[in-house]
Amino acid sequence: SNAGALAGRKVLMTAGPTFEDLDPVRYLGNRSSGRMGYAVAQAAREAGAEVLLISGPVALADPPGVTVQRVRSALDMHRAVLDAVAGMDVFIGTAAVADYRPAQPAGQKIKKTRESLTVELVRNPDILAEVAARADRPFTVGFAAETDDVLGYARRKLEEKRLDLIAANTVGAGQGFEVDDNALTLLWPGGQQELPRASKAALARDLINVIAQRLHAPG
Ligand code: C5P
Repeated sequence: SNAGALAGRKVLMTAGPTFEDLDPVRYLGNRSSGRMGYAVAQAAREAGAEVLLISGPVALADPPGVTVQRVRSALDMHRAVLDAVAGMDVFIGTAAVADYRPAQPAGQKIKKTRESLTVELVRNPDILAEVAARADRPFTVGFAAETDDVLGYARRKLEEKRLDLIAANTVGAGQGFEVDDNALTLLWPGGQQELPRASKAALARDLINVIAQRLHAPG
């Protein structure tokens, strides 16, 4: 059990995909269901934390006791996180934030008059890296979903974004996104721990326990 592991702590989270509008009826999205993030929010709440979840568009009910703020795009999520981050003890970025957005979303529905269409995309802000770069940063946790060399990319991300912890998993071909179970490897500066295949709810509880331990760990 992890009752009380985060008692009195304030946890800010992101979850789900972001939708990047092309025009008033179309968007670029991704396969994130939000299930892992919602399970982590629920586990944090059950561990006694006060939880604010900034959620992209998902088909999930709000976890009991969790405050959920719904957003659509990466820019919306970025603004919501920056508005809420001061005073938080822990930030957990589970959202599959779009790396790019259309440079100029069309004001009207794009018509199929041309044989080909080129859309220019521009980079979105890296919400997790910005939180980790703050002087008053919370304990900052990221996720790394990759199709290949998962641990290599995760370790690099941990160092480049200066995170306190990263949870790495393999996605694609029935793993990770849109499924009910998952497996994670947790990496932190100087250590790692495997969380073998289990339900997202069980993994979320284990992740919260490791976060609670690392919060108190020296260094
Ligand atoms: O760099 P990459 O997107 O693979 O890193 C994944 C981690 O970074 C996740 O925790 C995700 O929520 C976070 N992220 C973010 N803002 C972005 C891109 C990723 O917060 N624009």
